Amino acid sequence: MRYNLHMSDVKKSGVALIEKQSLEEIKKADNLKALEEIKIKYLGRKRGMITAQLRSLKSLSLSRRRLLGPIVNKLRERIEKALKSRTEEIKKKNNTGADIDVTAPGRRVIRGRLHPLTLIDREVRAIFRRLNFSIVEGTEVESEYYNFDALNIPAGHPARDMWDTFWLWRHKTESKMNALLRTHTSPVQVRFMERNRPPFQIIVPGRVFRFEATDTTHEMNFHQVEGLMVGKDISLANFKYIIEQFLNQLFKRKIETRLRPSYFPFTEPSVEVDIKWRGRWLEVMGAGMVNPAVFKAAGYNARAWQGFAFGVGLERLAMIKYRVPDIRLFHSGDVRFVKQF
Ligand code: FA5
Repeated sequence: MRYNLHMSDVKKSGVALIEKQSLEEIKKADNLKALEEIKIKYLGRKRGMITAQLRSLKSLSLSRRRLLGPIVNKLRERIEKALKSRTEEIKKKNNTGADIDVTAPGRRVIRGRLHPLTLIDREVRAIFRRLNFSIVEGTEVESEYYNFDALNIPAGHPARDMWDTFWLWRHKTESKMNALLRTHTSPVQVRFMERNRPPFQIIVPGRVFRFEATDTTHEMNFHQVEGLMVGKDISLANFKYIIEQFLNQLFKRKIETRLRPSYFPFTEPSVEVDIKWRGRWLEVMGAGMVNPAVFKAAGYNARAWQGFAFGVGLERLAMIKYRVPDIRLFHSGDVRFVKQF
């Protein structure tokens, strides 16, 4: 048996009216909130008009239910579809910036700054590259062997007291098995020489650690730049020339230097380099001629080669160049400090 739907049935149910009204409202809605309200008004589970229609079908005779049911369901689908496409339209419109106020004052963009240590590190690398040095890096965790023994500082040597050490692992008598945080960049000298033949000239920038109390000129975590130049006829005169070139370029003026006798187990003779700065002598680095014992540890013929080495503190250079009064400011994390450079 077929049932034909008569127009008057539809009219009576109010379905046509709801259809016209809802689709018009959706078309007119110009924001997502309005659309949400329309959705609740028609499709809401408790009081939605379409929901009510569907619910009222239950009280109708089977034949009318069969007629009206599909019509109401179709309408629900149509409203859902219209809501969806209008939502997308509104979202798209929002994204085009059509309602952005172009006359509103802009938001202030805060510009970042490079940390002074980054600045000086880049400059040091650039100067030495121009002087034909290669840049080599080592690791911050080092073995006792490379940090000490290979540099002519065996266990029990009084010079070990020059470097208060953060030990990481120290249970074996075999010094290659014991781990520490490197106290200077000098271990990279031996590591590099084990794998390379002279002549060469390198610098080794890097972070170092010392188990030390801090004050205005001492940090327990700071940076050094190691230098090593090895060849047939290298002398302290070559060192003096290179280091003056370096200092003149870094400070952008002629720098007066002074080599003072000193002691390091891995250099012989050893010197401290002082620079004249605003009328005062300031100590900036340790240096010297590579001790034959270090060449031997690296597997070189100590009679065939000569070289100079130096180790300079990066923070100390930055303190002079940028007039920083306290070394602890570098790691303070204070933005006001960084903003000045
Ligand atoms: C050394 O560490 C040697 N390895 C340097 C060296 C290399 C000598 C090669 C000869 C040949 P020293 O402990 O003096 O030496 O440190 C070298 C530089 O690091 C110092 O001149 C100073 O500029 C810097 N420095 C040392 N201790 C500190 C510290 N606690 N805080 C900041 N800078 C430091």
